[in-house]
Amino acid sequence: MSYKLLLFVSALVWTRDVQDFAGKSATVELGGTAILPCKLTRELTTDEILEQISWQRRTKGKPVTDNFFTITKKEDNYVNGEDNRFQRIGIFADNNGTLQLSNVNLQDDGTYSCIFSIYPSGTRKMDIPLHVLVTPETSVNDALPRLGEAEVPLATCTAASSKPPAKVAWNTGALKDKVRATNNSALHDNGTTTTVSTLMGKPTKEIYRSQVQCVISTEKLNQTISFEIQIYYPPLEVNITEGPMKDQFTCEADANPKANITWRRSNHHLLPSFIAEGATLTFKSKTSDLIGPFQCEAINRYGRKESTLYLQAPGSCKGGWIAFSLLLGIVAIVVSVAALYKHGFLKLPRFLMFGGEQVPTSSPADYAGEDEALPDHREGAGRLGSAEV
Ligand SMILES: *[C@@H]1O[C@H](CO)[C@@H](O)[C@H](O)[C@H]1NC(C)=O
Ligand SMILES: *[C@@H]1O[C@H](CO)[C@@H](O)[C@H](O)[C@H]1NC(C)=O
Ligand SMILES: *[C@@H]1O[C@H](CO)[C@@H](O)[C@H](O)[C@H]1NC(C)=O
Ligand SMILES: *[C@@H]1O[C@H](CO)[C@@H](O)[C@H](O)[C@H]1NC(C)=O
Ligand SMILES: *[C@@H]1O[C@H](CO)[C@@H](O)[C@H](O)[C@H]1NC(C)=O
Ligand SMILES: *[C@@H]1O[C@H](CO)[C@@H](O)[C@H](O)[C@H]1NC(C)=O
Repeated sequence: MSYKLLLFVSALVWTRDVQDFAGKSATVELGGTAILPCKLTRELTTDEILEQISWQRRTKGKPVTDNFFTITKKEDNYVNGEDNRFQRIGIFADNNGTLQLSNVNLQDDGTYSCIFSIYPSGTRKMDIPLHVLVTPETSVNDALPRLGEAEVPLATCTAASSKPPAKVAWNTGALKDKVRATNNSALHDNGTTTTVSTLMGKPTKEIYRSQVQCVISTEKLNQTISFEIQIYYPPLEVNITEGPMKDQFTCEADANPKANITWRRSNHHLLPSFIAEGATLTFKSKTSDLIGPFQCEAINRYGRKESTLYLQAPGSCKGGWIAFSLLLGIVAIVVSVAALYKHGFLKLPRFLMFGGEQVPTSSPADYAGEDEALPDHREGAGRLGSAEV
């Protein structure tokens, strides 16, 4: 024991002679097995005797120089506690003290030194830095930008706890002049670094749905993550169109996220003569109680918007609808409301319709060619057109 100690003391007065050694640095992935190479390359003279190879380390886990392993002709010994992850794999007789370290963790990162104690010439020491690599956890996250004019974060790209630090950059293609990236990185106590690159830009409709890529690179990894820029906004337009089936109307809203659509009848009782299912309103029977407004409401988490369908019962034999004597009066109401809002209206052979808040989809010009049954009444109903009695 005292002999060993003596050798360590002498090892402190080491001489460095790199040329005498084979081995340099070692790199290993977290959890992997590292080889710490150390071999004396020069031949010993016949007068020289290799007495011991000792290993020291200064690592993250052992910041003060720590003697941890000795190799002699007879045996290998753990010093200062037994860490079975270390195994000698070099052959002493070959002047080879190479060690293997399995199940490497971040605490093992540091510098290992092997010291050859040669009688009578003294000691030779070589340092072998061990780099523990950690592959980052990567992700791209939507920053949930709301439609607006001021520059805001659009998305973040993260390479979490990487060693060495990962490079994070954005590939913005066509958006090059409209967005920019800012980087942030934080070094953790365990030696890993988290790098976050934030894509900044004006959250406009123009860049909505643009494709960008985050490129994360390390020594071991080249990862590209595609991302579609999202811009969030309340329902901005709510359109009511006829179809897709006969006697149906569909309500569509321009919103992100997709708006929930509900059909309502505000000033009438709900009757079994129509079915409101999601965005589709279907008329089952053609009765007078359908006359009047139907509200389509679009809601998402940013807001709501409504559009109104005004239904005018027609007497067209084509459609098989019942004629109502009330028709003219209702047309008059519709016209006045229309005048008030100064909106256009939807082309509907048998219905009158316009949005309370939204401009409906088609012009009277489109309408004209579509239903020959109506021309006589369009004048009477003003811009709205009318249904046949
Ligand atoms: C030292 O021993 C290791 C393990 O057997 C071996 O891989 C290595 O090649 C040896 N070094 C030299 C320089 O021969
Ligand atoms: C920071 O951002 C710039 C510009 O996008 C990029 O070129 C650079 O690689 C980034 N730096 C790091 C450390 O990721
Ligand atoms: C290193 O530390 C960071 C921050 O505490 C943690 O998220 C990460 O999981 C750690 N990495 C390892 C390999 O322990
Ligand atoms: C990653 O890609 C770059 C550029 O294409 C290339 O130079 C580098 O060698 C790649 N790295 C890896 C680890 O594949
Ligand atoms: C609503 O109608 C307008 C005009 O026809 C059209 O430009 C818009 O794309 C429509 N929006 C939706 C959500 O259907
Ligand atoms: C939309 O409808 C779904 C399912 O009915 C519901 O979970 C969600 O909360 C609704 N969203 C809004 C904004 O009303």
